[in-house]
Amino acid sequence: MTTGRDRRRALGGVLYGADYNPEQWPADVWPQDMTLMRQAGVTCVSVGVFAWARIQPTEQTFDFAWLDQVLDLLHDAGIGANLATATASPPPWVSNRYPEILPCDDSGARYWPGSRQHFAPSSPRYRELAAGLVSRIAQRYARHPAVVMWHVGNEFGCHLPMDFSDAARDAFRDWLRAAYGSIDALNDAWGTAFWSQSYHDFDEVFPPRKAPYSRNPSAMLDFRRFTSDMWLQCYLMERQILHDAGAVQPITTNLLGPFKPANYAQWAPHLDVIADDCYPDPADPHALPHAAFQRDLIRSLKPGVPWLLMEQATDAVNWRTFNLGKRPGRLAAETAQCIGRGADGIMFFQWRQSRAGSEKFHSAMLPHAGTGTRTWQDAVALGATIAALPALPPPGRDARVALVFDWENWWAVEERDHPTTLNYLELVHRWYRALHRRHLMVDIVAAERVDADYDLVIAPQLYLLRETGATALASFVESGGTLLATAFSDVVDEHDRFLPGGFLTRLGPLLGIRLTDFGVLVPPGSPGVGEQVAPFTDRRGTAAGTLLAEEIEVVDAEVLAVFSGGAPAMTSRHVGAGRALYLATIPDEAGTQHVVDGLIELTGVQPVVDNLPACVEAARRGDLVTIVNHGDVPVTVTVDGTDVLTHTAADGLVLPPDGFAFIRTAPSAEMS
Ligand code: GAL
Repeated sequence: MTTGRDRRRALGGVLYGADYNPEQWPADVWPQDMTLMRQAGVTCVSVGVFAWARIQPTEQTFDFAWLDQVLDLLHDAGIGANLATATASPPPWVSNRYPEILPCDDSGARYWPGSRQHFAPSSPRYRELAAGLVSRIAQRYARHPAVVMWHVGNEFGCHLPMDFSDAARDAFRDWLRAAYGSIDALNDAWGTAFWSQSYHDFDEVFPPRKAPYSRNPSAMLDFRRFTSDMWLQCYLMERQILHDAGAVQPITTNLLGPFKPANYAQWAPHLDVIADDCYPDPADPHALPHAAFQRDLIRSLKPGVPWLLMEQATDAVNWRTFNLGKRPGRLAAETAQCIGRGADGIMFFQWRQSRAGSEKFHSAMLPHAGTGTRTWQDAVALGATIAALPALPPPGRDARVALVFDWENWWAVEERDHPTTLNYLELVHRWYRALHRRHLMVDIVAAERVDADYDLVIAPQLYLLRETGATALASFVESGGTLLATAFSDVVDEHDRFLPGGFLTRLGPLLGIRLTDFGVLVPPGSPGVGEQVAPFTDRRGTAAGTLLAEEIEVVDAEVLAVFSGGAPAMTSRHVGAGRALYLATIPDEAGTQHVVDGLIELTGVQPVVDNLPACVEAARRGDLVTIVNHGDVPVTVTVDGTDVLTHTAADGLVLPPDGFAFIRTAPSAEMS
């Protein structure tokens, strides 16, 4: 009898593999797949992600013969299966017989079948059919020796950020009932006295469908919470079925990094291992720091536990307007970035390039043009590199800097009808880029997760600040940390309502300031009044603020920087051994770097490695330091430690463009 340990065996070391879609190929191709997978060093494949129609061709019939054969072949080849529950694309018979499963947009128009993810997550019928499918799969394969992990659904919410169908309407009413208990509580939370929106019963409430004008922002916020919950409920339902069938393998689903529709901070506890899909655009100059941000966000979801890169592309994707390929070496460099930032699995979409369908131009490990291609050779070489890696330390609490990132705030701060229009992710990214350029290890967490293990915390535009978040930030400062809060923070409560007593009601006393006006500036480059920036000067020089130049009143703080007219732009208040800083504007790229450099001076936070050029990335994972050269010229790097791939001292290491090294550091070089 096979034990759970046997079934997990392929999870040792760094997993390597891809989505494997054998249902797209005749059976005589499968043995060839096994041979080539072994050649490429594949240890794990995600099987059957979109195979519902093949597994259940009609409501009454299930066909597992082909999947039995595939799983046996994988097992014989020593390759683990990350077995999918296949629920992401209901077959045509489902939509025909049960059209009520189809989702709707906000004008009530249906999304029709013919693509994928055409299901309303709150539809009871969809859930019933999905549950039936998953039960059959789970009962049949929970103890199959090839199965090392479970892949629930696929990228929940990816193509359908919100569903406004009648199923959503009914489920939203139930969700509101559970959240508020009484309709009066809802009326109060949503401020329905405004514009004659008072409800008498939960059954009067609709999802915030298309309306003549601005929709109630508190209702929008709750609908986003509800939507994230609906996707999560689908995941949890399937997870429960797997457990009930006796599955002991880790269960996960593939996330999408900073993905607005789903609050992954709430999902993380329910995922045994966090898995992520990431497709950096080779045409985007910020692609690599933003990919690093994504890895750090994903790692921060489950501290101390390695995560899996469930999907990346070997080369070009096919779904952008222009699909640039990766330059030679880039694939391995991006992979090194993942491992350095905590990944213990590197997988692709997909194993064998499809011959037909929407993604036939998408790259794969095994391209349509065959094994004579650079892509195949790169995939094989990368497999060999991964196989040569020793056991890696789990990611530890390696970051002394945290960047606050919060889904509920994202939803609220980007609602309409605000003093100005902000792109939250871009603003968070801007701070991250400035920290990344200085080679600091950063965790990306909600305010509630900020604790005394950090030295420096930056909270960009924390418009919606929960009481719990404010309390955590205050105790962080009281315990000796340095907090930078920034403009347009602490404006509303968790229902998107102003709190009594003005703004900064929760952080104001900590910061020692009051806010009197948001001081809106049009964005740089706007026509009309011309460019509006707010230069601010501190002892290190002058930088540009944009979008907001808030008017603040200093109550009990030191002024660190002033706007050109002399008004306070940045303040600091000592609280015990800690400091609470406030920046009353949104600095541009150079200004953000200016502020970050000042904070580094102030707090003494240390880079992973000193004196690296900005194009070189450095990450720490326990005692492992990863260096990746994203630049166009070779760089020479010295780290006190040993290159784990070459077993030589990392002294004067020359890294070509896209070159990387994993260095086991000597204990003396460990972070203080
Ligand atoms: C992901 C998806 C895969 C495939 C891939 C293409 O979003 O999970 O099934 O479509 O993108 O890049």
